[in-house]
Amino acid sequence: MRIITIIFTFALIVAINIMANGGDSNPTVTGKCMTCHKEKSPGLYNQWYMSEHATHNVTCLNCHSADRKDKDAFEHEGALIATLVTPKDCGQCHDKQFSEVGNSYHATAGQILKSNDAYLAHVAGGEPVAITGCESCHGTKVVIDKNSPNKLSHKNWPNSGIGRINPDGSLGSCNACHTRHSFSKAQARKPEACSKCHLGPDHPQKEIYEESKHGNVYYTNLDEMNINSDRWVVGQDYFKAPTCATCHMSEAPTQKATHDVGQRISWTLRPVISKHKENWKKKRGNMKQVCTNCHGETFVNGHYYQYDALVHLYNEKFARPATDIMNIVKKNKLMENPAGFSNDIEWSFWELWHHEGRRARHGASMMGPDYTWWHGIYDVAYNFYFVFLPQARAYNDTEVNTYIDKMLTDDPMHTWLSQDAKTLKENIRSGKMQKIYKKLFGLN
Ligand code: HEC
Ligand code: HEC
Ligand code: HEC
Ligand code: HEC
Ligand code: HEC
Ligand code: HEC
Ligand code: HEC
Ligand code: HEC
Repeated sequence: MRIITIIFTFALIVAINIMANGGDSNPTVTGKCMTCHKEKSPGLYNQWYMSEHATHNVTCLNCHSADRKDKDAFEHEGALIATLVTPKDCGQCHDKQFSEVGNSYHATAGQILKSNDAYLAHVAGGEPVAITGCESCHGTKVVIDKNSPNKLSHKNWPNSGIGRINPDGSLGSCNACHTRHSFSKAQARKPEACSKCHLGPDHPQKEIYEESKHGNVYYTNLDEMNINSDRWVVGQDYFKAPTCATCHMSEAPTQKATHDVGQRISWTLRPVISKHKENWKKKRGNMKQVCTNCHGETFVNGHYYQYDALVHLYNEKFARPATDIMNIVKKNKLMENPAGFSNDIEWSFWELWHHEGRRARHGASMMGPDYTWWHGIYDVAYNFYFVFLPQARAYNDTEVNTYIDKMLTDDPMHTWLSQDAKTLKENIRSGKMQKIYKKLFGLN
């Protein structure tokens, strides 16, 4: 009887242990994961097997084991596991990266439901596109569904959005950049790691990089980037070209690597009218420290001088007047249909800042001249003069017309419309035209 009690107690302790740790401590269960998955999902297994994690004995269960309390925990082949491996889970071993990601602008990317973009997706599109479009990049709010085999609602899984709102409260997904199951730093240093999200008509960073000199030198020197090196300090371990990671995240001799991608950015180019970020001078200083490993300081200051002027040009010549006009249109209730985006002027205004105006600003920030002009200010100007203003004029509203008339006659940036080409060309040759824009240079 005593022996039976002892055996029973022992078995109970073992069982409780397995339940509490998800079998973490049990080498047979741990081994079973690999043995079976090697056969059932050899691609996945080999990604892991060739990774730094396998080399350091970080196995399936180190990442996938779950606790009874976890809302997404489920029984799987004798272990309690979760499919999601959140930043918090990775943070058990990578605390620094976990907290930097949590403090970054990326972490907030899932909180978009209240934005105009989201409204547009839901009314003009519909829920399936909000899920497969917006949330695939930004991240979804993961909902638990008790009836789903892995406890995750089909609407939210798969999803690897950059600001995913996880059931454990953590934000984001590390495999947005470090694709599974390799989880490699070399892979994340390449521009392709960012390019699922940072591309397209409203934020073409990938395309801009590819057309810039930096992209040119990168793609013509791929095998000289020392990309697999453990240490990757710009100017020392590699020097041919910068990648997205170089400028926004990686280490420089005077600066540590960071997972907070906002630490080196001075403007936000996302809103209708650009403004400086908090602490922008310090952040700009951080970026310049990266540049000056390959360029002289005067050269780098020259870049910012030109870039700032373009931002002011877009802000002052187009974004402010367009915003003023839209405000009058709204105040005087001129639009025919009540719902947002049910009037064509709302679409042209949207494209003016959200697509064309952003492209121009992004092009100038990262040295992509084709985006600054042909995909940028060229499109802004066409839309502003020949789509947006005529749509506003069509309301025949005195206040709107007075505003536009005054702008076209008083603002020297817009008076060209009523002058003859010969005079304008002479003004360009003599430098008189350029004087109009002098005030845009050298501002902050
Ligand atoms: C006897 C074979 C076998 C063993 C042992 C096994 N798995 Fe699996 N596992 C599978 C198969 C098959 C699937 C796919 C099931 C499906 O999608 O219906 C799967 C699915 C999964 C999933 C994804 C679940 C989902 O659908 O979201 C994870 C994560 C996983 N296994 C991890 C593990 C871990 C960790 C272990 C070790 C505790 C393990 N597996 C042991 C066969 C196995
Ligand atoms: C370093 C942590 C880590 C290790 C080690 C790891 N995984 Fe994963 N696994 C992840 C992450 C992250 C995801 C994606 C989940 C998410 O988006 O939160 C994932 C997803 C999965 C999925 C579901 C997605 C799919 O593509 O089907 C399966 C199955 C899976 N892992 C099995 C395994 C198996 C088997 C092993 C061991 C050979 C393993 N994992 C080792 C982190 C890990
Ligand atoms: C291809 C990936 C992708 C898709 C699809 C996408 N976005 Fe974005 N979105 C981004 C990126 C990247 C940025 C940041 C761009 C930048 O900083 O220049 C962004 C910026 C935004 C912003 C501005 C945030 C701010 O702080 O100013 C909002 C709001 C937004 N997106 C909402 C949406 C909504 C809603 C949808 C669907 C209608 C959507 N996005 C579709 C990648 C995407
Ligand atoms: C925006 C893309 C991105 C995201 C999201 C991201 N990483 Fe990284 N990570 C990188 C890049 C780029 C590097 C390489 C930096 C270098 O060495 O230059 C890196 C490097 C690392 C390294 C190696 C550090 C070293 O010094 O050797 C670890 C560990 C790491 N990341 C963990 C994480 C974890 C954990 C998360 C989620 C909490 C995460 N990363 C999310 C881009 C990302
Ligand atoms: C049980 C601890 C543990 C967990 C959990 C863990 N890692 Fe790691 N990770 C390590 C160890 C150990 C290394 C190798 C030593 C090093 O580079 O720090 C490593 C290395 C890395 C590297 C650098 C790989 C390279 O190319 O050199 C990345 C990136 C990384 N982990 C990302 C992640 C992500 C993302 C997760 C979550 C999905 C995660 N890790 C979960 C322990 C862990
Ligand atoms: C899965 C999609 C995704 C990936 C991958 C991604 N980003 Fe982002 N990124 C976003 C979104 C979305 C935003 C806008 C965040 C918001 O709206 O809160 C953003 C914003 C940014 C910002 C602006 C930060 C600020 O403070 O203004 C930078 C810089 C950035 N990302 C750099 C990168 C780099 C570099 C990589 C690759 C190493 C990368 N991102 C990978 C989606 C992504
Ligand atoms: C040569 C360095 C460099 C490279 C390479 C680079 N960037 Fe940038 N990036 C910048 C600078 C400079 C800015 C503007 C910073 C400021 O406003 O102070 C910027 C701004 C951004 C922004 C903020 C845009 C906004 O709307 O506010 C994002 C997002 C971004 N870069 C993503 C990327 C991605 C993704 C890649 C690779 C495809 C990349 N960058 C490559 C230097 C670089
Ligand atoms: C790893 C080295 C490296 C880093 C870091 C780097 N650059 Fe460059 N940059 C280059 C190379 C190489 C060229 C091409 C030079 C040429 O035209 O022959 C270049 C070209 C340029 C050009 C000229 C573009 C043109 O079309 O002529 C500008 C402007 C520039 N970089 C600005 C910057 C700024 C600003 C930063 C920091 C945000 C930066 N660079 C970071 C290597 C670098």
